[in-house]
Amino acid sequence: MDKLIVTGGNRLDGEIRISGAKNAALPILAATLLAQEPVTICNVPHLHDVTTTMELLGRMGISLVVDERLNIEVDTSTIKNFYAPYELVKTMRASILVLGPLLSRFGEAHVSMPGGCAIGQRPVNIHLDGLKAMGADIRVENGYIIARAERLKGAKIFLEIVSVTATENLMMAATLARGTTVIENAAREPEVEDVAKCLIAMGAKITGAGSSTITIEGVEKLGGAVHRIVPDRIETATYLVAGAVTGGRVKARDTDPKLLEVVLQKLEEAGAEISTGEDWIELDMGGRRPKAVNIHTAPYPAMPTDMQAQFMVLNAVADGASRVVESVFENRFMHVQELLRLGSEIELEGNTALINGVPGLQGAPVMATDLRASACLVLAGLVARGETHISRIYHIDRGYECIEEKLQLLGANIKRVLDRSAV
Ligand code: EPZ
Repeated sequence: MDKLIVTGGNRLDGEIRISGAKNAALPILAATLLAQEPVTICNVPHLHDVTTTMELLGRMGISLVVDERLNIEVDTSTIKNFYAPYELVKTMRASILVLGPLLSRFGEAHVSMPGGCAIGQRPVNIHLDGLKAMGADIRVENGYIIARAERLKGAKIFLEIVSVTATENLMMAATLARGTTVIENAAREPEVEDVAKCLIAMGAKITGAGSSTITIEGVEKLGGAVHRIVPDRIETATYLVAGAVTGGRVKARDTDPKLLEVVLQKLEEAGAEISTGEDWIELDMGGRRPKAVNIHTAPYPAMPTDMQAQFMVLNAVADGASRVVESVFENRFMHVQELLRLGSEIELEGNTALINGVPGLQGAPVMATDLRASACLVLAGLVARGETHISRIYHIDRGYECIEEKLQLLGANIKRVLDRSAV
């Protein structure tokens, strides 16, 4: 097991390249199950979750050819089974995304129920209810979802909660259904739009992706396509916050400022100077300490829940008091206990954290609990005095490509070592 050692005090100053979005790559890899010809996906991030998804497809008998630039060509003509095993699903809940495509194209799917995770119960009832509305026979036996359908039929589906992967699963399932499907109260995340763009390139008939009402007219078959994954807005925002907390300057290239409007506004409120171009964003704090900012997470286009932990670090060292409200997941404050170990002043009241900014944090050993919490601990280490040792960093490798190399490029003192204390 590895750990990261971060030595605080360096003001970041530099430029990095942003990778393709994890939360677009995962559903788009699943979407290739719908195509009768090979699909090539470009700008795929080199992440553990992507490798897991490729293994999941490989175990179904699907061929995946990866070129030297990590473009992946997926050919499903050799598929042998429609099975997503527990030992893979338990490591990556997003495996549920193969359910809709398998059911829609092959009429059958055996997908392990994803367990809970650190940030919440994360049920999949909305996925299953939507597929039932489309005529699927869904049973749960021995921890597996057994789904069957002669051919799915179009339906009008209202999502009781705005769910990103449920929107994606149902949109993918509807592409080959008989008739038209309307998904209301759909998630509007840019990653949902990117999945739709890829499906349309494969021949799907979809309108409204990116809005809260998506209409899908079922077709007989989908063909091959070439699709470039949208930039990762959460990776971008994480590095911008790293610049903000260290009073530094960070330029993120190969990204898209239109995906991050609320985050950029909040960073300006915290005292950052933000400049943008077609595919880049630059943050400059000019050596200033950030000002405290109130955060309230909600579905896109509001403040992403995936940025809550990172802004918690900014507020922990900011000038002033602030409040952070987490309205999407019921248990996404696991990082608070770890931040308290570093000397922050945070009080929790239900889904609200009250933070009193302190001039500085002290380095200490801490433990990552989930993907974005681990990123938050790295950011805290950048500003803490002395060394911060972060264990269980397998969480971070799921969602951040080469995080220590990218931060070293920005001038951070960070290294990955073997964690001899880990069992
Ligand atoms: C996606 O998860 C992302 N993952 C998450 O990113 C992200 O935090 C989340 O959307 C919210 O933006 C991927 O896209 C692979 P939801 P998802 O369904 O789809 C409840 C990261 O760090 N719900 O939008 O699983 C659910 O419990 C990860 O990259 C149901 O009740 O999230 C939550 O409270 C973490 N029943 C709310 O909806 C369901 O069937 C929103 O969850 C589905 C969801």
